[in-house]
Amino acid sequence: MTSVWRLGVLTSGGDCAGLNAAIRAVAYRAIRHYGWSVFGIKDGSLGLMARPLQYQELSLDLTNDVMLRMGGTMLGTTNKGDPFAFPMPDGSIKDRSGEFVEGYHMLGLHALIVIGGDGSLKILDKLCKQGGVPMVGIPKTIDNDVHQTEFSIGFTTAVNVVVEALDRLQPTAASHHRAMILEVMGRDAGHIALNAGIAGGADIILIPEIPYSLAGIAAKIDEVRAEGRSHALIVVAEGCRTEGGQAVTVVLDHEQRRYGGIGHDLASKVSEMTGLETRVTVLGHVQRGGQPAMRDRLLASAFGVHAVDLVAEGRFSRMVAWQDRGVVDVPIAKVVGGSCCVDPNGAVVHAARGLGIYVGERSP
Ligand code: F6P
Repeated sequence: MTSVWRLGVLTSGGDCAGLNAAIRAVAYRAIRHYGWSVFGIKDGSLGLMARPLQYQELSLDLTNDVMLRMGGTMLGTTNKGDPFAFPMPDGSIKDRSGEFVEGYHMLGLHALIVIGGDGSLKILDKLCKQGGVPMVGIPKTIDNDVHQTEFSIGFTTAVNVVVEALDRLQPTAASHHRAMILEVMGRDAGHIALNAGIAGGADIILIPEIPYSLAGIAAKIDEVRAEGRSHALIVVAEGCRTEGGQAVTVVLDHEQRRYGGIGHDLASKVSEMTGLETRVTVLGHVQRGGQPAMRDRLLASAFGVHAVDLVAEGRFSRMVAWQDRGVVDVPIAKVVGGSCCVDPNGAVVHAARGLGIYVGERSP
């Protein structure tokens, strides 16, 4: 075992269900098994860049069994403010990476566990390598687009939320003979839409990885009608483009561009083409909150334990991952830069098509 005894842990990027369970697992393993001190860094990398430093020492009392069930992150997080290109109040961009590394040393840490998505892991891996900070990563994101792991923390809970929404939309769709369009998150990956769409009985699932046509959507609705049904459920991933290939986005906080609006864009076109009344539901951040589902609690717990064990073994710059029914670890260098979107020729798309769901056009 190495001489590590002051361990830092932070959550970075968008929150999701299961982050508190992961923090708890890190604290339990590090304190109970190894007898280390564990410091939770506030608001991702910001906590180590702030002066005074923003952190909280974690105790077994604090990271108790309630944490296993709580959504969000008790440490706070951020999905903006890259320390290498930090937006300053005067509008300028500053490299503040040195402050992060300095903060790490001020706190006397020996290693850092970063719970983040691919964007955060990429930035923090670079930051830690540059500053000589030993780091281990834990993958989280509702988008489930982190390379090298079959599942990331937060995905299953988000999918369950979407399935529940479809369960609620189906009876109202049937009662009013409408097409219900449900826009879901996922950024450039269609995993949430595809998995939830199948589980929630959608007729049409549109994902960024597979092009679709309005004619294809209309043909599916004709087919549904021919089978004697006067309503339809459509799930569309926020990252889907218009038929013409245009991304649909909104500008938030005067600067940040985010996906949003494809559901409404489709609604008028679908009702025009099919004569079916349409309504749109944009689920948004509901998908990120709530109590973590069983699989997210399991992933968080197993990932947290394994990440601490890696620190104890002195095996750094690695990310824990779920592969073949268990926890493994992979070099972070193999994770960053790789994308993990839906395979248009994969088994899940095949299953959807096998059920008669319209998932866009088949590639020639
Ligand atoms: O990456 C997670 C995610 O929830 C995406 O699915 C979504 O596009 C984005 O974050 C939303 O970000 P924000 O919380 O900044 O609105």
